[in-house]
Formats: sequence, structure tokens, C-alpha cells
Amino acid sequence: MSKTQYYTASSLDGFIADPNHSIDWLLQFGEEGTDDYAEFIANVGAIAMGSSTYTWILDQHVRPGTEHQKPWPHTQPSWIFTSRTLPSVDGADIRFVSGDVAKVHAEMLEAAKGKNVWVVGGGDLAGQFHDRGLLDEVIVTIAPVTLGAGKPLLPRSIVTPPLRLVSTQAYGSVFAQLRYEIQRAT
Ligand SMILES: NC(=O)c1ccc[n+]([C@@H]2O[C@H](COP(=O)([O-])OP(=O)(O)OC[C@H]3O[C@@H](n4cnc5c(N)ncnc54)[C@H](OP(=O)(O)O)[C@@H]3O)[C@@H](O)[C@H]2O)c1
Repeated sequence: MSKTQYYTASSLDGFIADPNHSIDWLLQFGEEGTDDYAEFIANVGAIAMGSSTYTWILDQHVRPGTEHQKPWPHTQPSWIFTSRTLPSVDGADIRFVSGDVAKVHAEMLEAAKGKNVWVVGGGDLAGQFHDRGLLDEVIVTIAPVTLGAGKPLLPRSIVTPPLRLVSTQAYGSVFAQLRYEIQRAT
């Protein structure tokens, strides 16, 4: 059955990017800690992200119009949440949407054809899926750094019922990956 997963990396103090949207603190570790990504992404059928995450990928990875241009990194259809008109990427299945995540989630599930839905981020977008009872798992890889401030991992109060820890995995002496399941209130 399809799961909706918020899969991300965070600083030890709960930020997924610094105040300027930089993730250099994460990139310093290179490929370390990405061992599980191939298996994770193979089971993903649809992707959601907010506009800051999208523009970061455009500016830092795709870099359209430059000599370093690369293709969009995902083959799965990607839903970009934004209230603005943003450039798309040639050859990529990118769908710009806004508003209630529940309606979009239904489309995503259909497109995913039984595979999982990946909420890439940011934290508030993952929170919007949680608010609508649509988030099943939080899979967070903790980097051994603190940032003091930045873009929060999951700016919601989730206390009762708490998340359920499903697994832990260490990657060398660098990362700890925690997989949590969202428990539904009965
Ligand atoms: N550490 C990691 O592994 C990791 C993973 C993912 C992201 N990141 C980074 O973390 C940062 C996250 O940035 P962020 O906190 O600003 O979050 P974001 O979700 O990437 O972007 C937030 C923006 O998305 C748009 N948006 C969100 N929900 C919407 C909705 N329901 N309808 C319409 N528009 C909506 C809004 O902008 P507009 O309407 O103005 O467009 C909002 O300001 C980025 O720098 C990203 O690169 C890091």
C-alpha cells in the first residue's frame, strides 16, 4: 500500500536548511549517508515540494541556461506548491499547484500507482500533509551539526499520540537515520 513519506535530512537541532536556504552544512559530507536513497526512491511514484525547495534544485542543480545544466533529477511526476508563476524544466513532469494539499494528494496517489508519495519539503509543507491526516512516515537523517536557526524540520506540535519509532540506522560516524510512523488518534 502506498505511503506518504517525509524523507529529509536535518541538523541535530532540527533545521533542514540554514536561514539563507543553504544546505552546505549537509553537502560537506558528500555521498556519506545516502546508501539507502536508491532503495527509497525506487519505491516513490510521486513527489511534492514547496517553491523554495524547487528553486533551490533549479538554481543549484539543474542550472538551466548555463554550461553546467543538468536534467531534472526525478523521473516521477513532481507537484510544486506555489502561489507564483515559476519556470518549469524542459523534459520534466512538473505540475505547479497551490492551496489545499488534500486535493493534490488524491491526484498524486493516482499517479503513484501504488508506489509511495515523497514529500521532499519544506517542513511546513510536510506539516500541511500532516494537518490533513495524510502523512504516514517521517524519515529523517540527522547530520552531526547544529545551525542555531534556519528552516524548521516539522513546525507542528505532534505530542499525543506521539510518533512511533520504527527503525534507527547509523551511517559511519556521521549520520543517524530515524524512521518514525505517524500514529492516528483513535
Ligand atoms: N535538508 C534537506 O534534505 C532538505 C530537504 C528539502 C528542502 N530543503 C531546503 O529547505 C528549505 C525549505 O524552504 P521553506 O521552508 O521555505 O519550504 P518550501 O516548502 O520549500 O517552500 C515554501 C513555499 O512554498 C509555497 N507553498 C507552500 N505550501 C503551499 C501551498 N499549500 N500552496 C501554495 N504555495 C505553497 C510558498 O511560497 P510561494 O507561494 O511564494 O511560492 C511557501 O513560502 C529550502 O531551502 C530547501 O532547499 C532541505
